[in-house]
Amino acid sequence: MTELLHIENLTAGYGAIQVLQSINLSLTSGGRLALIGRNGVGKTTLLKAVMGLADMKGGQIKLDGLDISKWSVRERANAGIGYVPQTRDIFPSLTVEENLLAGLKGRPRSALEEAYALFPRLAERRNNGGQQLSGGEQQMLSVARTLLGQPRLLLLDEPLEGLAPIICIELMRAFELLAQETGVAVLLVEQKVENALRFAPRAMVLERGEVVHESDSAALTLRKDLLERFVGVAGAH
Ligand SMILES: Nc1ncnc2c1ncn2[C@@H]1O[C@H](COP(=O)(O)OP(=O)(O)O)[C@@H](O)[C@H]1O
Ligand SMILES: [Mg+2]
Repeated sequence: MTELLHIENLTAGYGAIQVLQSINLSLTSGGRLALIGRNGVGKTTLLKAVMGLADMKGGQIKLDGLDISKWSVRERANAGIGYVPQTRDIFPSLTVEENLLAGLKGRPRSALEEAYALFPRLAERRNNGGQQLSGGEQQMLSVARTLLGQPRLLLLDEPLEGLAPIICIELMRAFELLAQETGVAVLLVEQKVENALRFAPRAMVLERGEVVHESDSAALTLRKDLLERFVGVAGAH
């Protein structure tokens, strides 16, 4: 397996504020990694650093062996990094279809069918306004729009946050299908730890901006003590 993302000794934050220290991370092409930890430990900041949305103070981020540390957000997106922010980035005043069209980036309109195949709910609601959608549908739309850019690396920030269990199942199934069919690599930040550990074979735990644990997800799932200490839920979700 070739290495897709390689992060070495990353220090990053916002302006003078340092959030992440000495982060090392590696993800192969088509690989999956779960990133877990309590609120405020720096999970979002790590995804933002990969996307170019946080300030890097040291270290390196490589994609396909190329140092992208100084690349703009647009350059990183064009190189195949797709980011689905925690805030569900959709245009509420536009319809589902118009939202998706905004993600096409020069691809033919027929590519929208990929999104509708993955999320049939969006096909049913293609003419509904973004603000009329449920939280789960908004999340699907946010994910679908990013996917239309055909990323090789997908950064998902708490996609299940605030969603009903049945919708979580539907979303996780879609991610599973997507990863299998497209071979996209996924870095998944998720507080619903059980879902994250089931999806990704490896997991990393962050605490106060540092990696405090890294292991096979299956092994970590059994360590209720560690999950309680690091995440505070003992894998309750
Ligand atoms: N835009 C920002 N400017 C300054 N500090 C920020 C900003 N965003 C987040 N932080 C701080 O960075 C730390 C990590 O936040 P974040 O990466 O969002 O954590 P998590 O996603 O794990 O909940 C927190 O202390 C938070 O207050
Ligand atoms: Mg966050």
